Amino acid sequence: METRVGDITSPHLQWWLDAKFGMFIHWGAYSELARGEWVMNRERWPIEEYEQVARAWDPERFEPREWVRMAQDAGMRYLVCTSKHHDGFCLFDSEHNDYNTVATIGRDLMAELAEACHEAGLKLGFYYSLKDWHHPDYEAGGRGDETAHARFIEYTQGLVRELCTNYGDLAILWYDGGGLHDGEGWHADEMNAMVRELQPGIVINNRSRAPEDHDTPEQHISASPPDRAWETCMTMNGSWGWHAGDSQWKSTGELIATLARINSLGGNLLLNVGPKGDGSFPPESVIRLQEIGEWMDLHGEAIYGTRRGPFEWGCFGYTTVRHSFAYLHITKWVGEELCVGMMKSPVRSASLLATGEALDFEQREDRLFIRGLPPRAYADPLATVVKLELDGEPEAYPRWL
Ligand code: GLC
Repeated sequence: METRVGDITSPHLQWWLDAKFGMFIHWGAYSELARGEWVMNRERWPIEEYEQVARAWDPERFEPREWVRMAQDAGMRYLVCTSKHHDGFCLFDSEHNDYNTVATIGRDLMAELAEACHEAGLKLGFYYSLKDWHHPDYEAGGRGDETAHARFIEYTQGLVRELCTNYGDLAILWYDGGGLHDGEGWHADEMNAMVRELQPGIVINNRSRAPEDHDTPEQHISASPPDRAWETCMTMNGSWGWHAGDSQWKSTGELIATLARINSLGGNLLLNVGPKGDGSFPPESVIRLQEIGEWMDLHGEAIYGTRRGPFEWGCFGYTTVRHSFAYLHITKWVGEELCVGMMKSPVRSASLLATGEALDFEQREDRLFIRGLPPRAYADPLATVVKLELDGEPEAYPRWL
């Protein structure tokens, strides 16, 4: 597969752009402590004390096939899981770091997950933290000890090589935690050349401090320029790693509206789940995944394969486009008549995507009116997308200033 790094039309990126929606998983020994993935650092756990937690961690209810099923049922087309977070504890076997789950409980958790993904045909990505609170050379290198830093680079490349070698097809490498050095300091170009050699076609994010394939706005939506791929990563509550005290869950409707908004701007959504220490998904996440899945069953056509379109947000919500179709995502109900500004392409037909029911419409210059919607939101809140068949490619009138 041809890879043109930094080119949004590159063949290797097209599956990822089509996918639109993935699952992020933050899981590790910290999940056992139930206060988020930064617990070691924020509470200043001495390394030896935190090590005891890590070494005792034994996720008895980890069922990777269940994870994969829940991701796929929610309509997610890829999964990115923390193989090592900032605490430095590896969820995979390593010759370079014996602080790992094979040494402690004899299980390569990432191998188990990889097997489940490959079996079910779900694209797999590994999150990898460059930051490492366990390795002394990380801290020393960060404080200017060049010999320590050189050793740390070797260690890093060793681990990344293992991730790219031992788990079959890897679709995504999702770096994080590189803030201490720039791309040069991380030898990012050299490292990523190695990665692409081992995994041709892989998609790499921008967090090794080299731009690579895509940008990664975190917890917010900000579209990159049209020639640049991007993905918002976001939590369902306010935490990445499992936090038992975080009860600020977003509603399913809010999450779906977020997905539509991101897709309308050409981005992907990587939606996080923080499994508990035992490996089970929190029930709050399970229910949201199920509800999103029900919506996706009816509306996937308005999500997958869409590309950034020319239409800005409307009073009703957001518009996604695919070929000569536009999809109006009604995330805020506007009543019996819905008006869209800017629609230049002649509209051939309008219908409710979930039911196929035809809708009346009238195109008066730069205003499109869709009529005959119920005065209030549909009794079935899942029926929220109007499909427009356009004559030709989606085209918009110039925006008002
Ligand atoms: C933040 C968190 C980090 C998490 C990341 C995901 O940077 O500090 O723990 O992994 O977000 O993007």
